[in-house]
Amino acid sequence: MTIKSITMSTVQFEKLRKVVYERSGIYFQDTKKYVLESRLSRRLDELELEDFDQYIMFLTAGPYQTDEFQEMFNRITINETSFFRNEPQLDVFEREVLPKLLEARSSSKTLRIWSAACSSGEEPYTLAIQIHRSLGVRLSDWKIEVLGTDISEKVLMTAQSGKYPHYSIRSVNPMVLNRYFKQDGSMYQLDPTVQSMVHFEKLNLKDRLAAKRFGTWDVIFCRNVMIYFDDEMKNNCAKLYHEQLQNDGTLFIGHSETLRNLDVNFEALPFPQGFAYKKG
Ligand SMILES: C[S@@+](CC[C@H](N)C(=O)[O-])C[C@H]1O[C@@H](n2cnc3c(N)ncnc32)[C@H](O)[C@@H]1O
Repeated sequence: MTIKSITMSTVQFEKLRKVVYERSGIYFQDTKKYVLESRLSRRLDELELEDFDQYIMFLTAGPYQTDEFQEMFNRITINETSFFRNEPQLDVFEREVLPKLLEARSSSKTLRIWSAACSSGEEPYTLAIQIHRSLGVRLSDWKIEVLGTDISEKVLMTAQSGKYPHYSIRSVNPMVLNRYFKQDGSMYQLDPTVQSMVHFEKLNLKDRLAAKRFGTWDVIFCRNVMIYFDDEMKNNCAKLYHEQLQNDGTLFIGHSETLRNLDVNFEALPFPQGFAYKKG
């Protein structure tokens, strides 16, 4: 089957960018027009639509709007991730934050960790591995909840399978790989105990009320997603994390992201390996 390449005009790009932004907070810069164009061109072909005007109509006024928005987000989001991504920052979590938290929660023995925008699950599973090896035999005394959320249903399906290609585990050290993964052909299946520590839900970070229904968290990871948002959406997310974080909780954002200039009171915790944040 040959795929027609359908061109997107500047006006069509601006209309589509507005629709995407209003629904998700994802803001496509002018230089990213080609991303929308190339990723959605095949979709237009599948739907037998002639041009992007027809697609915008289908998306915003057609009978299958909700489904099509989902389909579109599955295609246009950047889902790059891997196990132990940016390991120095994860060392801060495991060596600095987690021991103090386990101490502080030693009576309730509950721990709640949220990986917002978790893509295909490598990040929350990495945190579960770290908690698993930190607690060792004490794990069964604790009620651990690690939640991974994302706007894309497609990546969440991979997350739920716990099965990954070599690309996802390329930074995992051989001892961890041997202990926590079982090779199955070209794929790597995560250890079922670690897998059972994590659950996944679809969540659009634009939907503040939906996010709030998951309650408060001891640690929030929101790495490498705010780079796709404009300042207003970054501010809204930072406020959401502030509200949903326990008073002694910790926030991690991506190492190339910043909370500077945002209207929210977080205090940076500068560790040699990287930053974490607590409520100011
Ligand atoms: C680059 S991945 C980051 C994954 C992981 N946090 C990491 O750092 O490795 C960004 C993820 O953000 C998700 N995303 C983008 N906009 C979102 C939104 N409005 N709500 C929830 N997730 C969103 C995308 O679907 C994508 O999976």
